[in-house]
Amino acid sequence: MKKVLVSGGCGYIGSHTIVDLINNGFKVVSVDNHINSNSKVLKRIEKITGKKVKNYKIDLCNEKKLQKVFLENKDIVGIIHFAALKSVGESVEKPLWYFKNNLNSTLNLLQAAKTHKVRNFIFSSSCTVYGNAEKLPVTEETPWLKAESPYGLTKQMGEEIIESFAKANPKHNSILLRYFNPGGAHDSKLMGEAPNVALNLVPVITEQAIGKRKSIMVFGDDYDTRDGSCVRDYIHVMDLANAHTKAIQNLVKKKNKTNCEAYNLGIGEGATVLEVIKAFEKVSGKKLNYKIGPRREGDVVAIYSNYKKAKKQLKWKPKRNIEDIMLSAWEWEKVRSKKK
Ligand code: NAD
Ligand code: WQD
Repeated sequence: MKKVLVSGGCGYIGSHTIVDLINNGFKVVSVDNHINSNSKVLKRIEKITGKKVKNYKIDLCNEKKLQKVFLENKDIVGIIHFAALKSVGESVEKPLWYFKNNLNSTLNLLQAAKTHKVRNFIFSSSCTVYGNAEKLPVTEETPWLKAESPYGLTKQMGEEIIESFAKANPKHNSILLRYFNPGGAHDSKLMGEAPNVALNLVPVITEQAIGKRKSIMVFGDDYDTRDGSCVRDYIHVMDLANAHTKAIQNLVKKKNKTNCEAYNLGIGEGATVLEVIKAFEKVSGKKLNYKIGPRREGDVVAIYSNYKKAKKQLKWKPKRNIEDIMLSAWEWEKVRSKKK
């Protein structure tokens, strides 16, 4: 069984990926300081998979402590690096905190990879690197625009740091995964997104439906799109999780084309905000209370992916659509709210 180090393994996407990795025969060790998570998720992973996962509760910015993790786990074959601060608005208010956390954690992990000869590295990037792209769908070749926020800049810089590392270290292999808009939860209803303050559309919707908030504000209906609201490519978190398993398998089997490849991970279709609301109403049978409000500053009008590269090279394909996302997010919200 091959061992993978997952950074940010207690977070939303990391925890779902750990489940998929274990179900595909990998051993996992996690590093997460719980800055945006807690240890309960480890019990949930154990309940789903029957396997205990060790988490090192340390800050990845602490290089010494991180090195110790590698010394204690000499059999690590790959790193999947999820850990980051991810709130766009917060990054505008506290840019230095975002740069320090997201860049130093990446630098320290790369250093550890080099020192301990861990040759396979996967990085959580984002469609945010493309900005307001002119031509849709975006491919991996679509040129980047100037980052809209310090958070977005940490993703662009993260990718560039890894590319430079790859050039200088030909034996090291990296994959940059550009997620579009993740949503949904594990089918078991034991695990899903649990934000302290919901800002993203999917949890905002489920929170309104369960009664945690009075209404949903649709940020603008006067864009040049089919119904005037913004278009995004929503991808189910378990499909996203599986792409990481495929990516690490690809690296371990040395099937990667070059030693640093980027892949878009979306479903290749855009849905408007109003369509997402309708999809939720359809699968849940609940009527949502929403209002049309002003545009949100910094919002991209429309973005969706071309994921043909991941399909061809990683043999990955998303299996779920927007209705599956909304249904699983809703099932999870109902369980999560009862637990509180
Ligand atoms: P999350 O906040 O749920 O998980 C991130 C985890 O990393 C948290 O558990 C947090 O405690 C941990 N962490 C952060 N900084 C750390 C540090 N210095 N040391 C140790 N642990 C640390 O976020 P997520 O939604 O699971 O996102 C995972 C990754 O995917 C992030 O890199 C994020 O930027 C990227 N991403 C997320 C989305 C999204 O919409 N969720 C979209 C595109 C890209
Ligand atoms: C989706 C759509 C909003 C909330 C963010 C990050 C991006 C990436 C993914 C990490 C937009 C609309 C939302 C609400 C609304 N993350 N909306 N009312 O902004 O596409 O992407 O997460 O890398 O970097 O920016 O996601 O879920 O916030 O918004 O109308 O209350 O829903 O305007 O069109 P976004 P989101």
